[in-house]
Amino acid sequence: MARFPLAPGSTIGVLGGGQLGRMLALAAARLGFDVAILTPEVQSCAVRVAARAIIANYDDPVALESLARAADVVTFEFENVPAVVVEQLTAFGAQVAPGARALAVAQDRVDEKTFLNGCGAPTVDFQAVDSVADILAGLDRLGAPALLKTRREGYDGRGQTWVESHADAAAAYERIGVVPAILEARAAFRRELSVIAARGRDGEVVAYPPGENHHENGVLRRTRAPAQVTAALLAQIETIAARILTSLDYVGVMGVELFELEDGRLLVNEFAPRVHNTGHWTLDGCEVDQFEQHIRAIAGWPLGPTTPLAFVEMENLLGPEAHDWLALAGEAEARVWLYGKGDARPGRKMGHVNRLRPLKG
Ligand SMILES: Nc1ncnc2c1ncn2[C@@H]1O[C@H](COP(=O)(O)OP(=O)(O)O)[C@@H](O)[C@H]1O
Ligand SMILES: [Mg+2]
Repeated sequence: MARFPLAPGSTIGVLGGGQLGRMLALAAARLGFDVAILTPEVQSCAVRVAARAIIANYDDPVALESLARAADVVTFEFENVPAVVVEQLTAFGAQVAPGARALAVAQDRVDEKTFLNGCGAPTVDFQAVDSVADILAGLDRLGAPALLKTRREGYDGRGQTWVESHADAAAAYERIGVVPAILEARAAFRRELSVIAARGRDGEVVAYPPGENHHENGVLRRTRAPAQVTAALLAQIETIAARILTSLDYVGVMGVELFELEDGRLLVNEFAPRVHNTGHWTLDGCEVDQFEQHIRAIAGWPLGPTTPLAFVEMENLLGPEAHDWLALAGEAEARVWLYGKGDARPGRKMGHVNRLRPLKG
């Protein structure tokens, strides 16, 4: 059994070979850890910066056993890790952080919203959907338009469609594939905010200053942080984040997406039990960034300061936008992060750029 705090030289296992795994591996290496990545992809961008790779399907028991043996703690860079994978890792003696409960709750939008409301983190009203009749009943209660989302496996706005009216209900259900779903009341938001928070093994919770997020076609375009928020709103955001992390007995970094409504109320949209795209600004804007923070938390180290050092505008480089690397590298205020992905398919997250300005006053 691993003893915490983990000493440098220990191995951190990561499920997933994407850019989040890559940036976790870079942060871990800087603290003296080795990283072992488990991914089914032969050519993944995380593997190229990691000490060790296990190339196999996530549910391959042989691979899970060798990861559990190699790693002193195992974490993940995506939330759709099957529950059975965590069970098997645990059975092979691995410490998994964040835990099975956070994963299970985050994987199902109905369970997630039920949990959030139960721990004092309000969300939009919603209706669980297993039939067209449920959509019709939901529209009666929530009003139209309402947003129909698959309960599971949606990301970057996929698996979602607006239901404009009762007449559109059946077609909308077809559009998302007639699977278990959730119908959500429309959030009349003024802004989308998010907060990146972390909880250590000793229960300490820290939060970064919130960021303001802009999405295009369901995909994050840019985050500006620290966002302009009143002291009252900031206190509300920090309280909500702490309630979620503490209720889940969470260890690690979490991203919490929020709606600031036109009427000033704050609702939680969803949370991601992992490092988060809206936290990439911390790489250049904070004393300790979200990736190092996650490694510190799961390794049982003290959490680091979340103090902002600069105002950052983070912009995702999607698809061919990353071809502008040379011009971006020439901008004095820009810090360029490229993920080492070969194929710049349209919309693919290839990198991001953090543009820095001094904090005012
Ligand atoms: N209930 C809602 N009302 C209005 N807009 C919403 C609602 N839910 C989601 N959205 C918009 O859709 C985006 C993606 O939805 P989200 O639930 O965060 O799914 P994903 O898991 O794909 O990120 C949000 O960032 C927000 O812009
Ligand atoms: Mg989201």
